[in-house]
Amino acid sequence: MKIIKDPVQLKQILVGERKLGRTVGFVPTMGALHEGHLSLVRASKCENDITVVSIFVNPTQFAPGEDLKKYPRVFKRDCGMLGKCGVDYLFYPSVRAMYPEGFSKPLRIRNAKWPRLARSLCGKFRPGHFRGVVTVVAKLLDIVFPDKLYLGSKDYQQAAVLQQMVKDLRLNVKVRLMPTVREKSGLAMSSRNRYLSIVDRKRSEKISRVLLELGRELEKNKEPVSKLKSRALSELKKHVDRVQYLEIVNARTLAPVRARCAEMGVLTACFVGKTRLIDNVIIRSR
Ligand code: PAF
Repeated sequence: MKIIKDPVQLKQILVGERKLGRTVGFVPTMGALHEGHLSLVRASKCENDITVVSIFVNPTQFAPGEDLKKYPRVFKRDCGMLGKCGVDYLFYPSVRAMYPEGFSKPLRIRNAKWPRLARSLCGKFRPGHFRGVVTVVAKLLDIVFPDKLYLGSKDYQQAAVLQQMVKDLRLNVKVRLMPTVREKSGLAMSSRNRYLSIVDRKRSEKISRVLLELGRELEKNKEPVSKLKSRALSELKKHVDRVQYLEIVNARTLAPVRARCAEMGVLTACFVGKTRLIDNVIIRSR
């Protein structure tokens, strides 16, 4: 695995790879890797000739007061994991390389539709977050120019925003949305899980149970959506310290649903101790 820090150098190398007819899969990450990331890497390895992974803790997607400073940085460990998976290139740029002086941040795209998807849910509680994500992923895509971009479903809203951004910019990249990887307990894998104490981890395990149960009820139980939601919310509140949101949305538009529709998402963000966790389940009626 080659580690490359310079965007220009990576761009040149990948131009060369493409000239040789090789397809490129790309997995953007902020490091502190876990099985969820590795599942994306494995998918990319299966579907492409070359796999590129980036590790970059992107400052523009953290709001003031969020965990930018304490975000886990375990580069050596990450390198070992990626090397074992057979990653071809690891892109590890500095903040200066990604945001050179004079660069106007964050990026604004005229007539873009992605901001509509970014306003609700996490967007309400993390001002500027998705603008930061869109900015950095657009820059990464410009450097890597992959055939396929691999994203995890745990960050469902992020994936929806980025899929729309790809359409807005008419980028020639296929977005591959991969399933959430969970621990045996059901807890969705996340780099932030490492902040959890043993007791808080146990409490966090209840989040996915509440979501899955609500998903099942939406499919089977004929009670109104609002009633099922408020029951699930009360249950969730028993286990976590603060619920930012628990929403039942149209899985395509992310608009809240009052009546059942063909593809629904049950999404939540909540705090367990000081750790903010997100999770979701998607329900598709057969
Ligand atoms: O999901 C993440 O780790 C980040 O938001 C991403 C997509 C790598 C952009 O910084």
